[in-house]
Amino acid sequence: MKLAVIGTGYVGLVSGTCFAEMGNNVICVDNNREKLKKLNNGQVTIYEPGLELLYQRNFNQKRLRFTDNLKEAVDFAEAIFLCLPTPQGEDGSADLTHVMEIADQIGNILKQSSDYKLIVNKSTVPVGTVAKVKEVLTQKGAKSFDVASNPEFLREGFAVDDFMKPDRIVIGAESEKAFKLLRSLYEPFVRQGNPIIEMDIRSAEVTKYAANSYLATRITFMNELANFCEKAGANVDLVRKGMGSDTRIGKRFLFPGIGYGGSCFPKDVNALIKTSLDFNSELTLLTLVDKINKEQRLRFFNKIKNHFEGNLKGKRFAVWGLAFKPNTDDMREAPSIPVIKMLLENGAKVKAFDPAAMTNSKFYLNDKIEYADNMYDALPDADALLIFTEWNEFRNPDFTKVKSLLKEPLIFDGRNVYDLDDMEELGFTYYSIGRKIIKGKNL
Ligand code: UDX
Repeated sequence: MKLAVIGTGYVGLVSGTCFAEMGNNVICVDNNREKLKKLNNGQVTIYEPGLELLYQRNFNQKRLRFTDNLKEAVDFAEAIFLCLPTPQGEDGSADLTHVMEIADQIGNILKQSSDYKLIVNKSTVPVGTVAKVKEVLTQKGAKSFDVASNPEFLREGFAVDDFMKPDRIVIGAESEKAFKLLRSLYEPFVRQGNPIIEMDIRSAEVTKYAANSYLATRITFMNELANFCEKAGANVDLVRKGMGSDTRIGKRFLFPGIGYGGSCFPKDVNALIKTSLDFNSELTLLTLVDKINKEQRLRFFNKIKNHFEGNLKGKRFAVWGLAFKPNTDDMREAPSIPVIKMLLENGAKVKAFDPAAMTNSKFYLNDKIEYADNMYDALPDADALLIFTEWNEFRNPDFTKVKSLLKEPLIFDGRNVYDLDDMEELGFTYYSIGRKIIKGKNL
């Protein structure tokens, strides 16, 4: 099938590449010249495990091309996927500028053509946006087209796997022609038997927000429960296993930490709250979820501050992990940012190591912190080690080395990476989330 993908961010580049991998002919469009130059030179522009191999293969076989010429792509394709950013606007709602601008331009192109085109929205947009896109296209004089909603559920770090073997495909459309086209495009991706769920457009638009907000709520429930466990003398890890074994609950996505981050959950929770207000049907639970999530970062900072009896001036902290989660270089809404900023505001110094996110981190923390060459290089003379991201390489370090490099054997772990008994045996003072504090021998 001939496809166009508009926007080459995470969703666009992964979608375009994976569609090409399934044998489709794909043109990706972006207006960022620098990005295009790299993509046309054989260079992948995002860090995503497994993507480079697929990109190289399909780029070399010319099934995957990149251009800034929207008209060329629209003329070429049967289906045009909108994979554009919908950042959080000032009032919390999703900013639709990019989506509506492209709709306008596509409308101008389509008014000169009588070929049928299916415009598919993959961007996360509030309910009613696809109807607005349709309205713009109609107003511009486009004649033969459908607009559909096909929300994307891929996770960063697993984007290629999630795209190639999705749990489900959601399609919201109005005509059998649109359903048929998308069904045949996606059938090879769900050969194992996962469902293609067909529905009306508005329900498809809501489904994406519902999934992300539910997951954010689930994490927030566990974060609040973890705080309670700390006070009640329970171990949230054991509680998590005990409750997660109930098949109605399930084991996944129950890990407490320093709050969810990333480019989706915070923005989508806020956008859904805003939309619910617009429809005079406030989702009050989500308002609390957002509040508790922000407080979770402050709580972690306060653990550190209280340990040092309120005085962080001149203290040095080693940081392992900056990205909002492992296997990504993405720093958007990473909980490490507000916590590090609070440490700096309180007169502390920070030296950080992250396997992938240090370049992007400079955009948020610029030269206010030092960056280490490797994980151990962050440690010398630090008063404590702080863990913000559970990268695998932090899971089993040389603890003797860690202990000898730190000023004191003191760890604040925002991701419950280590076992309490191990920490006790090794003699660390160890703070984690929802578990008892281990008091080291030396402190
Ligand atoms: C999310 C959705 O999972 C995905 O379906 C959607 O398309 C985009 O948003 P992503 O942002 O890549 O994907 O990250 P995800 O793996 O879902 O994690 C989000 C945040 O939740 C991270 O900050 C992570 O650390 C946190 N998290 C996740 C927890 O704190 N505990 C958990 O148990 C799981």
